[in-house]
Amino acid sequence: MIEIHEVTKKFQDKKIYITALKHVSFSVKKGQVVGLLGENGAGKTTLLRTIATLLTPTDGQVSVAGFNTLKHADEIKKRIGVLFGGETGLYDRLTARENLEYFAMLYGLSKHETKVRIDDLAKMFGMKDYLNRKVGSFSKGMRQKVAIARTLIHNPDIILFDEPTTGLDITSSNVFRQLVHQLKRDGKTIIFSSHIMEEVSMLCDTVAMMHKGELVYHGDLEELYKSEGSRDLNYIFMSKLVRGNENYAS
Ligand SMILES: Nc1ncnc2c1ncn2[C@@H]1O[C@H](COP(=O)(O)OP(=O)(O)OP(=O)(O)O)[C@@H](O)[C@H]1O
Ligand SMILES: [Mg+2]
Repeated sequence: MIEIHEVTKKFQDKKIYITALKHVSFSVKKGQVVGLLGENGAGKTTLLRTIATLLTPTDGQVSVAGFNTLKHADEIKKRIGVLFGGETGLYDRLTARENLEYFAMLYGLSKHETKVRIDDLAKMFGMKDYLNRKVGSFSKGMRQKVAIARTLIHNPDIILFDEPTTGLDITSSNVFRQLVHQLKRDGKTIIFSSHIMEEVSMLCDTVAMMHKGELVYHGDLEELYKSEGSRDLNYIFMSKLVRGNENYAS
């Protein structure tokens, strides 16, 4: 479903070159839920933006649903839903419903499809009470729920979430977690970055760990627990960072 092959991404910040991704390779199968872990600046957002066709790799290739990100970005955009931490992309002067209608229109949904979809999502997220209020007055968690609904409006097969529960309270985080379970049951392919190990261990079957732009582990979570002789993901993550990618086995 997603193939990341030897991806390197360099940024130039004035005269300083930053290598945000270094020869990153892994693939994600249909229906997998992948947790992307890494310290601040590890390259998680850069990788997700590259998969979403929003960044061009300096080297290497990415394909999504069989389409190359450089050649067929439009085909990919139809099939993916993306949500980047901190950027909700919502219009403050519109109501939650109007925001969702606007994004539904961009994806070419009919009026009827839009209504059904918005009603479903509003129910799922408990947003019914504020669907007709302007987003400008919303709390962070309310906004985040509308943003997640926006990401899913066109019922995409592949979903990329960058720190989706940042800013959500426990109830809303749980709603998000239930939603991921539901999406998984529906056969969706999901990659999400998180700093919350508990969330990753609860929701993911696979993890990708990044450290300073390199992939230090990618594989099945249960196998990782077995090979490390521990189910403490926090501890495993820290020890992987210390050991680097010497022991990396895909
Ligand atoms: N547009 C850019 N221009 C210059 N450098 C950038 C740009 N975007 C990212 N970087 C650099 O690339 C590196 C990886 O950043 P990235 O945002 O991918 O990390 P991250 O793993 O998402 O971190 P966080 O957990 O803090 O969100 C950092 O050193 C960052 O400063
Ligand atoms: Mg980030």
